[in-house]
Amino acid sequence: MTRLRSDLSVRMEFALDPAAAFTAFMDDPAMGLARHGMRLRPGPDGRITERGDEVGRVVAWVPGRHVRLEWRGADPDADARVRLDLGFAPLSGRTRVGLACRGWGDALKLRPPELAGWFAQAVGAALPRATTPEAVRGWVTDRLARRPSGAAACEGYRDPTFPRPNFKLLLAGLGLTQEDFLLEVGCGGGAFLRDALRSGCRAAAVDHSLEMVRLAREENRDSVLTGRFEAVQAEAARIPFAGRQFTCVATANVFGFIDAPVEALTEIHRVLAPGGRLVLFTLSRDMVGTPAAPEPMASRFRFDEDQELRRLALEAGFAEARVERPDLEPYAREVGLTEDEVLHFRGESGCQLLTARKA
Ligand SMILES: C[S@@+](CC[C@H](N)C(=O)[O-])C[C@H]1O[C@@H](n2cnc3c(N)ncnc32)[C@H](O)[C@@H]1O
Repeated sequence: MTRLRSDLSVRMEFALDPAAAFTAFMDDPAMGLARHGMRLRPGPDGRITERGDEVGRVVAWVPGRHVRLEWRGADPDADARVRLDLGFAPLSGRTRVGLACRGWGDALKLRPPELAGWFAQAVGAALPRATTPEAVRGWVTDRLARRPSGAAACEGYRDPTFPRPNFKLLLAGLGLTQEDFLLEVGCGGGAFLRDALRSGCRAAAVDHSLEMVRLAREENRDSVLTGRFEAVQAEAARIPFAGRQFTCVATANVFGFIDAPVEALTEIHRVLAPGGRLVLFTLSRDMVGTPAAPEPMASRFRFDEDQELRRLALEAGFAEARVERPDLEPYAREVGLTEDEVLHFRGESGCQLLTARKA
């Protein structure tokens, strides 16, 4: 049989030096493998695992230059190894990143039409799908706000400036004491929790971004160590906590990203103790085009009318619900924003504060 070449290579140039390109690739996290159920433990002794089982390993790891991953071929009886090489070549102020996969098809003895079919499906179709304007805007929305990931998002959510006034507003609405057990839904990097935990309350948090959950734990390390705080990766519509235990729930800048709003509010209602309160901060359509609701996020965010927000809370089982349009300017001053920054919070409020209570 004629031996077929089944090498695959892709190259792209970035205006980054090789060290920065290397970090960007490896930080995503670990080349986005996590999104496909795989994990790469980086480093010279790194491993690739899928559902806990090792499927491959790192055989070369030279930061800023070269990484080679290796795993067994698709034919379980053959000894062939598949090699994936990532190279970082400097080019006067830029870096050419090359990705080459070798040996993946050899063991299967695929005939040319099968090879071409695989190539069309796995690579040919993936590239146009990934590069449509909709896919790219969706990816940017996820990375920055809907499911934040990557170094820039972690830096931004560690200590965000512009949400500070609405965190203050939520704290004023909650009036936390040591007796409270607070749940935050969509906690991002845990900055609001850091403020909330100063009241002496206990707290828990959920977020569907694993990177945000890790950041929230890291930012509230002392409270994690003393057992006063835990953060868990979960969907708002499937909160992994027992019912009737939280005295209050807070959520900020999340609700418009939740696809199933009644299910999420019903879950929040379930985990609240009788008499428990919910404070939910979100943006109305009036904020579209302002720095608080920029594109491409704004087109992927659900804006509810005030009446609709209230109706959703009542449908989820809350006994009382009301929606206000809070004035954030005093809170913006209180958190020490500069006069230029305070300008963003002046005038008619396009923000909504839903306050609801369980019977
Ligand atoms: C714009 S960020 C806001 C983070 C934080 N609350 C703040 O105000 O800074 C939205 C957060 O909600 C999380 N999120 C969005 N949809 C979610 C869902 N359906 N379930 C759980 N978390 C969600 C995202 O991962 C992200 O961390």
